[in-house]
Amino acid sequence: MKLQTVKDVDLQGKRVLIRVDFNVPLKDGEVTDDTRIESALPTVRYILDQKGTSLVVMSHFGRPKGKKDPAFSMAPVAKRFEELLGRKVKVASDVIGDAVKKEVADLKAGEVLLLENVRFYKEEEANDAGFSKELASYGDIYVNDAFGTAHRAHASTEGVAHFLPAVAGFLIEKEVKFFAPLLENPDKPFVAIIGGSKVSSKISVLESLARTCDAIVIAGGMAYTFLKVQGHAIGKSLLEAEYLDVAKSFLAKAQEKGVRVILPVDHVCAAEFNEQAQVVSVDSVDIPEGLIGMDVGPKTLALVDKELKGAKSIVWNGPMGVFEFDAFAAGTKAVAKMVAECTGTTVVGGGDSVAAVNKFGFADRIDHVSTGGGASLEFLEGRELPGIKALEK
Ligand code: 3PG
Repeated sequence: MKLQTVKDVDLQGKRVLIRVDFNVPLKDGEVTDDTRIESALPTVRYILDQKGTSLVVMSHFGRPKGKKDPAFSMAPVAKRFEELLGRKVKVASDVIGDAVKKEVADLKAGEVLLLENVRFYKEEEANDAGFSKELASYGDIYVNDAFGTAHRAHASTEGVAHFLPAVAGFLIEKEVKFFAPLLENPDKPFVAIIGGSKVSSKISVLESLARTCDAIVIAGGMAYTFLKVQGHAIGKSLLEAEYLDVAKSFLAKAQEKGVRVILPVDHVCAAEFNEQAQVVSVDSVDIPEGLIGMDVGPKTLALVDKELKGAKSIVWNGPMGVFEFDAFAAGTKAVAKMVAECTGTTVVGGGDSVAAVNKFGFADRIDHVSTGGGASLEFLEGRELPGIKALEK
């Protein structure tokens, strides 16, 4: 996948319209994790470093459902953006309309204007052509650097690309550089670690990765459905009964392809699903009646370690257990450390596993920590992301 980027076009003297994903967590009006803002800065800075450029920035924030709602205003995000960028960021009075047109027209070289939340208009998510055209009128060129929203075919992520020359920013370029080879020609051995609670939300990723990987570790809540297929007792652990056949057929296909599937062989359990629950170690694949599998045990971790030791490529999506509860976080923490220590190329994607590498302090030692939750999942499923597809023309 070869994308044109901001480096392939002449930006001098241009008003650039950029889509970023500033959908960041907020508490009491303050941004609590600014990774997504930081990640857009290289592109923003590069654009502003070109002679005579000005910048109109678009993002969504939360899900205001097509209505103007002050709770979803970009204002707190703009404040953090301004601090990190180190230059004034003006906040537009709206997304479309005459007032905004004037604010855009008044922009001087070197100035930055952040539009209000694009999702204040239902036309954004409807990918309305008129709305896209109006957004496109704000710039001479469109840059998409919103990897986290690239799986949405919305006006500001997809529609606008039909009305302007459109290129990728450095963040989208980087995300694609790390994710695309995993589905095409990964350095081998390639090991995927897929955790999380539901087979239903991860089965497409498992099937997609089984085409290129040598081994797949399946952990987290969804592992118990696979163990059940193999005839093991799973106690009161999570079971998606309607996915037993799907899980069974996945295991058969993996075996046919020679893909090793590593499932938990021991567990950390509890009788109740809560943070204070007493920890019960179960040193066997089978889980006694009345217990819930909450994390993987040491024998499982040794198996994962063995797989990861020689791996040249690793992708990790989804936690090994209920890592939000301290007593059941050891498996996820150990895997985060193993991934960090691996000498091959390491990619972590998906909200929970990204939160885990950040929480346990390993993010700096991972080659690529994705800014995409849903977007990285859909990428790994082998699906075309509309926001990126629109740049390929
Ligand atoms: C995300 O946080 O995953 C992106 O910003 C997309 O948000 P959405 O799921 O509301 O489209």
